[in-house]
Amino acid sequence: MKIAVLYGGISAEREVSLSSGKGIIKALEANGHDVVGIDFHPDRLEELLALDVDLVYIGLHGRYGEDGKVQALLDMLNIKYVGSGVAGSALAMDKAKSKLFFEREGTRVAKQHVLYKHSYDKQATKIEIPYPIVVKPNQEGSTIGITFAENEEELFNGIEAAFELDETVLLEEFIKGREVTVAVMGNKGKEKALPVVEIVPKNKYYDYEAKYAVGMSEHIVPARLTDEQTTYVKKHAVLAHQSLGCDIYSRVDFIIPDDGGDPVILEVNTLPGMTPTSLYPDAAREIGLSYDQMIETFIQLSLN
Ligand code: DAL
Ligand code: MG
Repeated sequence: MKIAVLYGGISAEREVSLSSGKGIIKALEANGHDVVGIDFHPDRLEELLALDVDLVYIGLHGRYGEDGKVQALLDMLNIKYVGSGVAGSALAMDKAKSKLFFEREGTRVAKQHVLYKHSYDKQATKIEIPYPIVVKPNQEGSTIGITFAENEEELFNGIEAAFELDETVLLEEFIKGREVTVAVMGNKGKEKALPVVEIVPKNKYYDYEAKYAVGMSEHIVPARLTDEQTTYVKKHAVLAHQSLGCDIYSRVDFIIPDDGGDPVILEVNTLPGMTPTSLYPDAAREIGLSYDQMIETFIQLSLN
């Protein structure tokens, strides 16, 4: 099959995508496909069209890739692609809005306060979340722009820094606990949750360095959870994926609180990292799928 892999791009997660793209291209070639990699931005659209491919594998992360925009472009051009469509991608990229869908499914979410650049007034801002507070640009990935505020000064510095990256900033209650993630795979209505992966970062938080520097995090599969916790995160990962209308694959992140309460969902990633330190491939390996077989499974699912 002739497949174009779109990778790199212009988001803050460009470097991550260059690494994911490399892995995806290698896997598709090993699987016998005719593969063309394109470091993708609008200027390269004509090149993509001229290739007349059977399928596009989107290996981009973040804006203009994970947020539904490239998906919309491909839909309009009638080009088939792997993964979630426009609405699912856009909703998953919007952390604040996606939590409304998760709540509707009965999934526990962290308390949040959403700030908009156009109406933000530092003096008038009253935050009712106890410290520490997690400050997130609403539509970023790989923890880019995220800070943990212990006091008011850190909070407002964090908010200003996050507004540099996004017009919407999300403040969340910090849930002390262990981070786990659930890979979801399958066609609509037939999704399965793969074994849960637990992340043990060497840094205080699972930050950018802990995510991508080799040896900076340990992945434990299956995660050290009670049967009840495992059942909860797998069930709610599939519900979250379905509630946003995602397709083929995604990775859903949770915190397992130290206080023994229900797991807390963080977000759905519709284009999870496929780098050498990424989590989804570890979950796939646990059900007997090598990296190459995992990529081929996504291709086959996309043709159904
Ligand atoms: N945003 C990165 C790529 C991930 O979720 O794996
Ligand atoms: Mg993410």
